[in-house]
Amino acid sequence: MSARIATVREYDLFAPEAMTDQNAFLRRVRAESPLAWLPQLDAYLLTRHADIMAALRDKRMDTANMARVLQRLTPEEQDELRPVSRSIEMWMGHTVPADHVRMQRLLKRYFSPATVDRLRPRVRAFTHELLDAVAPKGQMDVVRDLAYPLPANVIAELLGMPTSDREQLQAWSRDILPIFGNGDIQQIRRAQASMLDMHDYLRTIAAERRRAPREDVLSMFMAAEAEGALTEDEAVANCVLLLFAGHETTANLIANGLVLLFAHPDQLALLRANPNLMPLAVDEMLRCDGPAGVIGRVTTEPVELAGHTVPGGKHIYLALMAGNRDPEAFPDPDTFDITRKPNRHLSFGMGAYYCLGAALARMETDECLRILLNRCPDLRPAYQTPDWLPSPPFGHRLGSLQVTF
Ligand code: HEM
Repeated sequence: MSARIATVREYDLFAPEAMTDQNAFLRRVRAESPLAWLPQLDAYLLTRHADIMAALRDKRMDTANMARVLQRLTPEEQDELRPVSRSIEMWMGHTVPADHVRMQRLLKRYFSPATVDRLRPRVRAFTHELLDAVAPKGQMDVVRDLAYPLPANVIAELLGMPTSDREQLQAWSRDILPIFGNGDIQQIRRAQASMLDMHDYLRTIAAERRRAPREDVLSMFMAAEAEGALTEDEAVANCVLLLFAGHETTANLIANGLVLLFAHPDQLALLRANPNLMPLAVDEMLRCDGPAGVIGRVTTEPVELAGHTVPGGKHIYLALMAGNRDPEAFPDPDTFDITRKPNRHLSFGMGAYYCLGAALARMETDECLRILLNRCPDLRPAYQTPDWLPSPPFGHRLGSLQVTF
């Protein structure tokens, strides 16, 4: 463990308060010590909106490898897991800045608001198809039957994966999740096996797209490879990133958003009466319960953060979920208000690494919830308390979301 700055308070991530009510815990940390020290993570924590924005824009803060769990393994285990670490190092946002810009140039046009808008009819069709499958039963698990498969289908189509393989892709995506949380060694071994299976699968499709290109991202990657703009390894690694980043997060936004609406019947009624509020409502869902609770950075040299000078080489966690409820940035920050405007939440990050898929995630959630509310006028929760699963260090996701309609 490295030494902390003496005047910065230390907090126990496993204290009962931090485990049971993360928003209350972060509210206290933000008021007491805007720069805090988390000994269990060997890292600092920022919680104020203004400090997080400044950190996101600061070129002296590198993106931290999301797979920090791999760095905590024994040297033998790290050797065994070298293939997965090497692949993640090629992911967009995990590379040196020059490679990051190269990848952004290749991918940006596939995720621009105009391109994303052209996908709207496909998203509508997928949503109807998924609802048709459960309609006769009058009940469903929103996570399993709708929120999880919808973004998986969309991103698989955008990349150019055959429809018949979608269930396999969803299973692989779920397997690799523990690498980004606190997975144990068994789970991480399985994650590596699934990621390597995914690589083999993607290489086979890449070969087909080289021979007969289509309008998808993988075909574009293969054309770029032919021009020397990227390697096949980079193409395959970044397809895994897109499948993963575009899937889990959006699924959680759809499910968390619905739980927020159920918990605030007045806001649900307002939205039903005014479906045009949906874009604002989606942003308020992102603010109140965005899927990325926290993101990581590493200082490359001494940096002033919340009034303290943090030396170079330190890990900093940016608690987006705390910044999103900072009273200095949002009036009534703990009120879920689907008419909130402006809403400068931090849930997609900011600056050079701003989420590539922001427009896509917003559009998918908008269409999905619009169709769901429209088709199901009697939609009701069928649970006592939501089935939250912890997603350390900060955050949670729903294991299931039972509803009747
Ligand atoms: C609600 C859904 C989503 C949330 C909350 C979310 C959140 C984020 C956040 C916070 C970042 C910034 C990370 C950082 O600064 O370290 C990010 C980056 C990124 N996201 Fe998303 N994301 C979502 C959906 C998507 C989708 C649908 C895709 C793609 C299909 C995607 C692809 C990416 C990529 C590639 C990056 C890295 C961008 C770069 O380095 O330039 N995300 N996302």
